[in-house]
Amino acid sequence: MYETSNDLPPTTRQSAIDVLNEHLADAIDLQLQAKQAHWNVKGPNFTGLHELFDRVAAQAGEYSDLIAERAVALGGVARGTLQAVSGQTQLREYPLEIGDWRAHVQAMRDALATFGRGVRKAIDDVTALSDADTADLFTEISRGVDKSLWMVEAHVQDVRGEEKHVGQPPSAREQSRP
Ligand SMILES: [Fe+2]
Repeated sequence: MYETSNDLPPTTRQSAIDVLNEHLADAIDLQLQAKQAHWNVKGPNFTGLHELFDRVAAQAGEYSDLIAERAVALGGVARGTLQAVSGQTQLREYPLEIGDWRAHVQAMRDALATFGRGVRKAIDDVTALSDADTADLFTEISRGVDKSLWMVEAHVQDVRGEEKHVGQPPSAREQSRP
């Protein structure tokens, strides 16, 4: 670790750096996976998904920058090389031979869910270290991942919720109409 005038105890900083590097790998992998989906998706939903996957990739790039710079600010080294990421990532390997939009939606859904689950655990891990700033960073990322997951999942969620209303009796206000 590098010397720093940051007043967090060195043991706290070292543990936080380790947590940050774990999730840096996932964020870089997520960015690459979203680009893979952006380039290769095919089907009737092409335009929307092509653009959505690119936005997920851009967001993952912002997350990796936030995570890496926090690790360095705490006196650590950001471990962001392809080789380091490949050995560390918790995301499932992205399938190369898929094209159908449903398969890409499912693969991105899986990647975002895995990344999001890890980030939520990271919030707890660094909160236990009393590093509120790193917890805040992970909380910001967690909120963004939840939103991206919603946008990806919405393509395959069924509309049973809406259908439930179809058979319901009209409201009192509607009943009073002539
Ligand atoms: Fe592009």
